[in-house]
Amino acid sequence: MAKILLLYHGIYGHTRKICEAIAEELERQGLASDLDEIANAAAARPEAYETVVIGAAIRNGKHNPLVIEFIRNNLDLLEARRSAFFSVNLVARKPEKNTAETNPYVKAFLERSPWKPGLVGVFAGNLDYQRYTFMDRHIIRFIMTLTGGPTDLHTKVEFTDWERVRRFAGQVRDLACSAPV
Ligand SMILES: Cc1cc2nc3c(=O)[nH]c(=O)nc-3n(C[C@H](O)[C@H](O)[C@H](O)COP(=O)(O)O)c2cc1C
Repeated sequence: MAKILLLYHGIYGHTRKICEAIAEELERQGLASDLDEIANAAAARPEAYETVVIGAAIRNGKHNPLVIEFIRNNLDLLEARRSAFFSVNLVARKPEKNTAETNPYVKAFLERSPWKPGLVGVFAGNLDYQRYTFMDRHIIRFIMTLTGGPTDLHTKVEFTDWERVRRFAGQVRDLACSAPV
């Protein structure tokens, strides 16, 4: 059976929640997977897997340096496996910015990344002002002001389209079951 590792980086738990939904759908389709934070990647032993999926949230315009570092340090490993990447951000709540081809963070990531994943996804994230630290609340509120999003500090909204997440999981399954790279 194809072995799949899901590695993620996020701060407030939503990227993990998306990974869990992918893992659940994979399981429903008969494929086992393991899930871990990218900070624990060495202990997760990515070399033991045939397929590696990396999910990362955007914070202040960037994917976390840990993600970039992992990719740089494990380029040979990633290139020798089937691999997929997805980004989670709030800009992707806009229909015209919710694909790998149109999301500015994914476009910038792919332009700069030496790793060319076999599958790329992007999902709209979560907005829950009351969960954030004082600083984060005001940073994200500023971003929402600039991008025309909700600024009421009681807003709690999941912009994620879970059906798209499940479709992506199906694509991960197809990738994992395809011929070895
Ligand atoms: C402090 C902070 C900064 C953020 N910066 C951006 C940003 O620059 N662009 C964007 O599209 N989303 C931004 N987001 C939205 C997150 O990407 C989104 O909330 C995501 O669901 C967070 O995932 P997590 O719960 O795994 O951390 C930011 C969120 C926070 C809390």
